[in-house]
Amino acid sequence: MCGIIGFFSDSLSKEKIIDSLKRLEYRGYDSAGLAIIEDKKIKRYRCKGEIKELEKKLKNIQIKANICIAHTRWATHGKPSEENAHPHTDCTGKISIVHNGIIENYLELREKLKKKGHVFKSDTDTEIFAHLIEDKLNKNLINAVESAVKEIKGNYAFAIISSLEPDKIIAVKKGAPVVIGIGFDEYFVSSDIPAFLKYTNKAIFLQDNDICVISKNGIEIKNNDKEVKRLVQNIKWDSEQAEKKGFSHFMIKEIFEQPEVFEDTILGRFNEEKGEIHIEGLDTEKLKRIKNIRLIACGTSYHAALAAKYLIEKYAGISAIAEIASEARYSEPVIEKNTLLITISQSGETADTIAAFNNIKKKVDFTIAIVNVVGSTLSRLADYVIYTHAGPEIGVASTKTFTSQMAVLYLLTFQIARIKKKMTTDLIKKYLKNLRKMPEFIIEILKSKDEIKKIADKYYEQKDFLYYGRNVNYPIALEGALKLKEISYIHAEGYPAGEIKHGPIALIDDKVPNIFVAPESRLYGKIINNIEEIKARGGKVIVITNNKNKKISKYVDDVIYIPDVDEDFYPLLAVIPMQLLAYFIGVKRGINVDKPRNLAKSVTVE
Ligand code: F6R
Repeated sequence: MCGIIGFFSDSLSKEKIIDSLKRLEYRGYDSAGLAIIEDKKIKRYRCKGEIKELEKKLKNIQIKANICIAHTRWATHGKPSEENAHPHTDCTGKISIVHNGIIENYLELREKLKKKGHVFKSDTDTEIFAHLIEDKLNKNLINAVESAVKEIKGNYAFAIISSLEPDKIIAVKKGAPVVIGIGFDEYFVSSDIPAFLKYTNKAIFLQDNDICVISKNGIEIKNNDKEVKRLVQNIKWDSEQAEKKGFSHFMIKEIFEQPEVFEDTILGRFNEEKGEIHIEGLDTEKLKRIKNIRLIACGTSYHAALAAKYLIEKYAGISAIAEIASEARYSEPVIEKNTLLITISQSGETADTIAAFNNIKKKVDFTIAIVNVVGSTLSRLADYVIYTHAGPEIGVASTKTFTSQMAVLYLLTFQIARIKKKMTTDLIKKYLKNLRKMPEFIIEILKSKDEIKKIADKYYEQKDFLYYGRNVNYPIALEGALKLKEISYIHAEGYPAGEIKHGPIALIDDKVPNIFVAPESRLYGKIINNIEEIKARGGKVIVITNNKNKKISKYVDDVIYIPDVDEDFYPLLAVIPMQLLAYFIGVKRGINVDKPRNLAKSVTVE
């Protein structure tokens, strides 16, 4: 996630700017930059890579400004490069902006502005906003910002400066966070508190649609053209707590980010009223020809791939195979004509996934990479890339990136089904409406964290856990077991529930917890039979089921409820309690859940 820091300060210095930028590093970034107003002119310094590169650029530069906007960029549109680094400017170089978020209708606006003679120097969505302000500029900068904001769609936070009115910073917020720091005789505009916590603990959190102007007159905030007052809050966190937004670990912070991340992933990608899906750049003609799909990935990304296999076969009516990349890299697969290869990877750098991709790529019709890190190897190797827009994941165990991968895979499945006329428009509309509601359902599950913690407290000393699911919920059993292994060091296995009698049943005793993903869906009766098999042998059973299924609590040891949804959306919801359970067990066992032993966030070796 990009980081913004803006200063309105008589004690501004190079060191102060760099220090604040470094405090935003935890958000992840691939380039950095700043703009200042000096002698009524904007000066910009930008670089690809780490903040230390920016420091090198500034080595012999004296900063004599009192206004600055600076930025750490986590690429979403356009690869990491100096040209794409923020701040961006308009044609005249008199307006400079930094941005966090996504401008959904940027392509359309870009075309409009191009026709009016605007020349763009980057591939970013951000740059169009600087040009849009320029386009609206009559005399007054604030009016121009206000009318430019009315034309953009999406989630965004901006900090804007202009040499035309060199005594102010304007901040705009919708969706993405903006917090204003109020110092003794200075102000800060930031994406997050750590960037200025060293100087003040007084802060105002802007609300959606706020436009805030910081000038010698202080802070003025308007919302929908009306002046508003916002509460000044005293921040009690230290800087480490602030990076984690008050959460104890990055992992739990990232689990709680999932509603927001899900919204970012689906943002601008469908219209549920029309039943239309727009995945940027994806060639629908090519999708029409596809008769088979191969999905390759590792770990959590493989579990998303496996869930997609069930969805694609059911809804798009074409054969799909999901393979573990470390196996697929050495296999000699027989690939049918018109096969689409989909690779899924958070980092886009996993060595096994890259090798498997290269092994299979030459035999297929075309390739899609679903990745989180913009500009990563897989994103460059594939014919098409679909970004998950989950933002950087700091916790080693994947959580929010899984949900975002699933969001993309649902959309891709419905898109293929639509093109192949395998789903009616009415059904697509209904399912897209379902997707739109997922963030609120995830919030509902997150509210039950205390109940899940109680279950964690009850079982955290056990040595083995077994997880079960059927069909599209089977990959969620695998994911639940993987999460637990990684961050609690407890042995855990995931099984298709029907497989119990073929071996795992020998493990059942009165200690091993058996966790079932068991919503009332098509195979519910079968899962109940499996639960009976375990109960009959004195096993402990924990069930994840839908809210309406109250009767099950009489038969099992513990129940975790999730909202009632159409059956194929349960995987998306059932994974959330799995993540929470693993997290609470890991913490209770005293493990560093953000950095469990022996694991790396990006596995770039074989
Ligand atoms: C699990 C986890 C790993 C990764 C796997 C693939 O929590 O983080 O299993 O999912 O190493 O990584 P990516 O998705 O970056 O290819």
